[in-house]
Amino acid sequence: MKVTVVGAGLVGATCADSIAHKDIVKEVVLLDVKQNVAEGKALDMWQMSPVDQFDTRIHGSTNDYTKTAGSDIVVITAGVPRKPGMSRDDLISINADIVKSSTENIIKHSPDAIIIIVSNPLDVMTYCAYLTAKVDSSRVFGMAGILDTARYGAFLAEALDCSPKDIQSILMGGHGDTMVPLPRYTTVSGIPVTELIEKAKLDAIVERTKKGGTEIVNLLGTSAWYAPGVAAAQMVEAIVKDQKRIFPCCAWLQGEYGLKDIYLGAPVKLGKKGIEQIIELKLNDEEMQLVNASAKAVREVMDVLDKMNAAK
Ligand code: 2OP
Repeated sequence: MKVTVVGAGLVGATCADSIAHKDIVKEVVLLDVKQNVAEGKALDMWQMSPVDQFDTRIHGSTNDYTKTAGSDIVVITAGVPRKPGMSRDDLISINADIVKSSTENIIKHSPDAIIIIVSNPLDVMTYCAYLTAKVDSSRVFGMAGILDTARYGAFLAEALDCSPKDIQSILMGGHGDTMVPLPRYTTVSGIPVTELIEKAKLDAIVERTKKGGTEIVNLLGTSAWYAPGVAAAQMVEAIVKDQKRIFPCCAWLQGEYGLKDIYLGAPVKLGKKGIEQIIELKLNDEEMQLVNASAKAVREVMDVLDKMNAAK
């Protein structure tokens, strides 16, 4: 199998590195518009193979999409990251052009590829790729929920002084401050989290999770890359191995949760065909209200993209 990662910045390179280390595909192509950056990082990664013992070949390309031809899966990370004081939505006009042209080039050379979007604002960039690719929505979806649940799980593991491996959770909504971590669907080795932590502490963790990306932007002056990169690689693994894993992903909803024609985070089953099922949880009124508020926020930014496209 062949996987392309578009964008050899910090997120793209981390993702390519993680995929190579999993040793699950024959080839990873890393592509970037900046001269020689992808080639240099790919060469450095390939030189890890004798030490870390993997066979995946890693090739770099400076914007030459012919090198990506025949990819089975493509992860698009290209775009500018946010700086302190910026919301993900502030990136829309710059990143929409980048995601559109990347998707056009990908579809031209790999018409059957499954496309995973990582660029921000995530939900709307996934919509942008879907409009551009003109393929079934089971093949175009976004990475955010795995990252957001990872942050939630990491904070919980710290508070409970337990292993992050034992935390199972799900989260819905857009990849922004309106995301909806779901304590009712959070367990520690099957034990409802609400039995292990007091409400005020759990509420604080939910709030910290929603602003998890901003916390890192404020520390580093740019956005996160380790957790976003490995989260996208985990989606690639689920597809390559046809694992049928259930993850929250940014998916095109067509009536699920009473929402239509919107890209939003929801639990899905990931396998070799991409999104093989969107799972509908029985949310209570309070949870549904939060999901609806998040959908409203995402819809507003989708409308901005629609207006930008109509003006072209
Ligand atoms: C984050 O939340 C980059 O959006 C990504 O860190």
